[in-house]
Order: sequence, then C-alpha cells, then structure tokens
Amino acid sequence: MKVIISGDHAGMTIRNEVKSLLEEKGIEFEDIGCSCETSVDYPDYALPAAKRVANGEFDRGILICGTGIGMSIAANKVKGIRCALTHDVYSAKLTRQHNDSNMIAMGERVIGPGLAREIAEVWLETEFDGGRHANRIGKIASYEDEQ
Ligand code: RB5
Repeated sequence: MKVIISGDHAGMTIRNEVKSLLEEKGIEFEDIGCSCETSVDYPDYALPAAKRVANGEFDRGILICGTGIGMSIAANKVKGIRCALTHDVYSAKLTRQHNDSNMIAMGERVIGPGLAREIAEVWLETEFDGGRHANRIGKIASYEDEQ
C-alpha cells in the first residue's frame, strides 16, 4: 500500500504521529504537507493529495488540519475521492467497511496524537465489506459520472 499524507500548519503534531506509525508499519508514504513556518491555505494541500489518490498514484490518503473539516470538504470535490472525517475509532473502521473510504481527514484541534494514531491504524488495516455497500458506492460514482 502507498499512502500520501498532507496537512496545513494546524496539523503538524498529528501529521508527525501518523508518519511515525507508517514508518513503524513499513508502509510507503509521501508527505506533501506544508513545512508550516507560516499560516497556509488548506485547499492548497488537500487538493493535490486527493488528485494523486484519484489518479491511482497512491492507494490511500490522510489529511490533517485544525478540524479536518476544510481538508475533507476540499478532498471530496475530487472525482473518485471518498474522504471521511474521522475522530473516533468506530467511524474509522466503519468508513472502510461500508464506504471504502480512500482518504480520511483528522483535526488536531479536536483530538490528540494518541487517538489519531489509533484511528489511522484501524483505518489502514480494515478491509471494505463490498456487497450491498459496493452498490451504494456505485450510486455515488454514477452521480459523479453524470456531472
Ligand atoms: C486553520 O486555521 C484552519 O482553519 C484549518 O486548519 C482547518 O481547520 C480548516 O477546516
């Protein structure tokens, strides 16, 4: 699995925590987040990551900003992206099983690094259930194709 990570100035601590998790698990990743000496605009960091998941260069993407909200909104504008805003382990698991999410977003002003690590780990390890859920995702993809 190849993972892309991105984030703005408000998510540096969690971004580093997730990177150390990926290193420990031996998962290949690239971090395109800001170096963050100054304030930046989150769409400039969410959209390039989402595009590189959508085009197949990366299997999954993890976005981190202050709340996770702005980056998840931006990522979900990219065709083929299913980005879940996840601040609990249950949602992280279910969004893989039911939504086949290919990205998650988290907010460093909402949760701490320990929980963020657990969320990322569960999300990376959980498989999509397929079946009726594939049909539902297909309806979203069909809508995207109509646009
Ligand atoms: C930056 O202040 C903050 O707005 C951003 O990190 C994010 O939370 C936006 O949704």
